[in-house]
Amino acid sequence: MTSPVRLALLGCGTVGAEVVRLLHEQSADLAARVGAPLEIAGIAVRRIGRDRGDLPVDPTLFTTDALGLIKRDDVDVVVEVVGGIEPARGWLVEALRAGKSVVTANKALLAEDGGTLHDAAAEGSGDLYYEASVAGAIPLLRPLRESLHGDRITRVTGIVNGTTNFILSAMHATGAGFAEALEEATELGYAEADPTADVEGFDAAAKAAILASLAFHSRVAAADVHREGITEVTAADVASAKAMGCTIKLLCIAARGVDGQGRETVSVRVHPAMIPVTHPLASVGDAFNAVFVEAEAAGQLMFYGRGAGGAPTASAVLGDVVAVARNRLAGVRAASESAYAELPVRPMGEALTRYHISLDVADRPGVLESVAGMFARHDVSIATVRQGPAAGAAGAAGDAVLVIVTHVAPDAALAATVQELRGLDIVRSVASVLRVEGGL
Ligand code: NDP
Ligand code: HSE
Repeated sequence: MTSPVRLALLGCGTVGAEVVRLLHEQSADLAARVGAPLEIAGIAVRRIGRDRGDLPVDPTLFTTDALGLIKRDDVDVVVEVVGGIEPARGWLVEALRAGKSVVTANKALLAEDGGTLHDAAAEGSGDLYYEASVAGAIPLLRPLRESLHGDRITRVTGIVNGTTNFILSAMHATGAGFAEALEEATELGYAEADPTADVEGFDAAAKAAILASLAFHSRVAAADVHREGITEVTAADVASAKAMGCTIKLLCIAARGVDGQGRETVSVRVHPAMIPVTHPLASVGDAFNAVFVEAEAAGQLMFYGRGAGGAPTASAVLGDVVAVARNRLAGVRAASESAYAELPVRPMGEALTRYHISLDVADRPGVLESVAGMFARHDVSIATVRQGPAAGAAGAAGDAVLVIVTHVAPDAALAATVQELRGLDIVRSVASVLRVEGGL
């Protein structure tokens, strides 16, 4: 009988408890797939006496000494499902340098300082896998880091945060405002007590950095990602999008392109955007995630599934555990980090975007000319203009609504146009400004 592969599990919360459950329930299958039993050497937690229900595990395995557990000679693989930057970074660097393999779901750490982990992995002899860090159960990072290595990825567009997708889907379905939809998401357990990381786009930005790093063979950190959340999206924005045959999604967009100086760059951003209801990402509702990958030879690929939750995330963690355990038994390791391209990140102002702008204006001769002139001064080309009567109580007699959709232009030029439109006396208010993705 081959000796077991021994795991140190760091964390036993939402994800960790499901990892324990799956290891127990699937033990025979997992042993057959790995070629040796997987055995838990210890479980590091913060509160040793916490009630963990009917978790199928020997209670003497729990410890608060994570570092001591990692350093044990009988530990082969460290599975980190604690989260946060420290102490997780110190633990994982220690484990990797000591030649252990690491499986982690820690998107925050990978996005803030993934380079340090990859460097530590290069110093050691183990693997560093992190499939669960982006889009939960969806097999996405392995395709990016292995299956698509023969191709050239040009763009990744994704819905990678379930909480915000639930909120925006509810706003679209019911016409509710942001606050009301957030309340529903909290009641149903989708949004956390402090929803800041989700609704302000930090969680999606961390995932965008990880995706961009893998897709473009370059180190991209969370700090490189332009980030806007969904707290400013109003019921009026959603109604405006619907009127255009669109819906609003919080998108993470990572694209490679050539800048003004002819240099290859990547642009990585997270912001709400209007997409046509016919776009494949528009039908991704509830708290689901989906990622749309475009590659030169493969064309368009779409990955869809559950992006969060204990069991779906544990599925991705266990997939990584099987892979690294098999590598250890075979005496091999996975390909190391691929960051050879070192593409610089293009500032948001230079990213090419399109805007949908809804203006309340005075309805009199010359208004359209003044508004159009403002776009022309910033070298922004208008794609469509629609005028209608001012709506509801907000619209005064003699006012009209102008809805303008632009062609693609540098984001800074579009933002400057909107800023100056606000200063025009014929513009009563700028009712809605949204970026547009996916063609209209
Ligand atoms: P939880 O908060 O549910 O669990 C965290 C676990 O870490 C708990 O068991 C806690 O111990 C333990 N812990 C916290 N601090 C320490 C410490 N200093 N020393 C030892 N143990 C500690 O987190 P989740 O399970 O939700 O998330 C874990 C990771 O997975 C995070 O990186 C998260 O981003 C990622 N992830 C989570 C998803 C999800 O749906 N939940 C989806 C995708 C990724 P105790 O039990 O004693 O409190
Ligand atoms: N808070 C995240 C979400 C969990 O809503 O998608 C998964 O990373």
